[in-house]
Amino acid sequence: MVHISAPTDRITSICCIGAGYVGGPTCAVIAAKCPEIRITVVDRDPDRISAWNSDSLPVYEPGLDALVKRQRNTNLTFSTDIDRAIDQAQLIFIAVNTPPMPHTHGSSSMGAKPDLSAVSECARRIARVSLTDKIVVAKSTVPCGACATIAGMLRDNGQKGVGFSVLSNPEFLSEGTAVRDLLHPDRVLIGGDDRVAQDKLKAVYMHWVPEPRILTMNTWSSELAKLASNAMLAQRVSSINSISAVCEAVGADIAEVARGCGSDERIGQKFLRPSLGFGGSCFHKDIASLIWLSESLGLPEVAEYWHQVLALNRFQIKRFVARILADTSREGGLSGLGGRRVACLGFAFKEGTGDTRNTPAADVCCELLRNGAKLSIYDPRVPRHHIVDKLAMSAASNCDIDSVSVCSDAYSAIAGSDIVVVLTAWSEFRQIDWEQALKLMSQPAYVFDGQVVLDHGRLEQLGFNVFSIGRAHVTTQ
Ligand code: NAD
Ligand code: UGA
Repeated sequence: MVHISAPTDRITSICCIGAGYVGGPTCAVIAAKCPEIRITVVDRDPDRISAWNSDSLPVYEPGLDALVKRQRNTNLTFSTDIDRAIDQAQLIFIAVNTPPMPHTHGSSSMGAKPDLSAVSECARRIARVSLTDKIVVAKSTVPCGACATIAGMLRDNGQKGVGFSVLSNPEFLSEGTAVRDLLHPDRVLIGGDDRVAQDKLKAVYMHWVPEPRILTMNTWSSELAKLASNAMLAQRVSSINSISAVCEAVGADIAEVARGCGSDERIGQKFLRPSLGFGGSCFHKDIASLIWLSESLGLPEVAEYWHQVLALNRFQIKRFVARILADTSREGGLSGLGGRRVACLGFAFKEGTGDTRNTPAADVCCELLRNGAKLSIYDPRVPRHHIVDKLAMSAASNCDIDSVSVCSDAYSAIAGSDIVVVLTAWSEFRQIDWEQALKLMSQPAYVFDGQVVLDHGRLEQLGFNVFSIGRAHVTTQ
């Protein structure tokens, strides 16, 4: 029993530790929907807090700017004074990052335990600073059992007579649609064994979420449901991507296959878009965490099952690059991409965000660079220095960063290139005037669509050599 005497008043003051992709948008929405609650979002990174207090927020999300600007300095504050915010709050969200531990050399594990050092640091700090009872809510994605560990830390390090209740309240927002997801969640999970504390957090959400969508459950179920949800979504992406390879071999079209499968209500259309694979900060690490959990529970078959979802994800990038090399080498008997210019459209891990964590685009760019290509990269949302930094970090594995230029629009990237590759599914790439683009390119011109977003028939009519994931190859040569 995590217990402990929770505060009895309804919640009017919240502190959120971690001003990132989750902490910032979540608190902005709570502030907007609960005007009687004062929320302070704190972070140990002063630059991040300054950005939240500026006109240029550190996170791009549609609708977020207006929301933050409206609530800031009314009931929403961003601060670096973590101790003060903890002291003044009845309820504290922990929304800090939980990256995977680096793989230990020689370890036979296929998984990775999440690094909970930031979460532990928060728990110890809350214990040290709190002079009144608190509800502590794990919003970060944590492995099963983490809430019990947090409760133990609070109990062992807390001031005498101060009570803590620990709840699991995982976040399900997606980047690019965070505000919409927070305003209209499919469900909110509140895991715990202190009914009073669960009801207090539930009362916060009931300001805007219909009650049937707020599910209370035990802590382990809530923690595991978060990992399992991400794993199942990623599994769907790997499933459709595995079928895309079959499509290319037999002459089927993955868009038609996806429609054919997804029209079965039991399967559904969502998350069946073929791609270069899933990226982002969470799918990899949460599956790695599930694999690690399965291994540590003595369930190697379960671990192996989820490991294949990651393996298939890597396979997709590998075979996309192999395809580029094979198709472009055919022409003129050239081998490799030596000296050729490749226009890379997109760099974010998905459309609607400027986030590049685990972006498949970086992996493809590095492979192209290793094969001697020169890259002109354009992404509507990723700042130039993020692209350069990201690729420079991979420079250790022989990426030649001097061969990269970052462009401010798609046409500048395409001009003078031999090959266009689509790396992020931004809808604006459909609006490109491809007739004009063809004139800007060296001939023969190639398009490799890694995100299945372009009108391939039209491109072929114009005279491009087109390859798309999940579609039998057509060439004009
Ligand atoms: P993030 O890296 O954007 O933000 C985390 C913030 O926590 C950073 O600003 C960092 O400076 C701060 N921080 C770290 N340790 C701290 C400490 N000891 N004290 C104060 N501040 C500290 O991470 P994120 O994307 O917001 O993810 C946070 C958690 O939410 C992760 O566990 C993630 O798995 C989960 N999650 C993320 C998403 C998403 O879309 N990004 C969605 C659902 C769940
Ligand atoms: C994902 C989940 O969707 C959220 O519910 C969860 O809260 C979040 O992870 C998290 O825990 O961090 P996110 O990673 O932001 O959200 O974005 P998704 O829309 O899930 O896309 C993930 C990746 O899969 C992207 O690279 C995307 O391009 C790819 N994807 C998605 C496909 O390739 N095909 C699809 O059909 C859908």
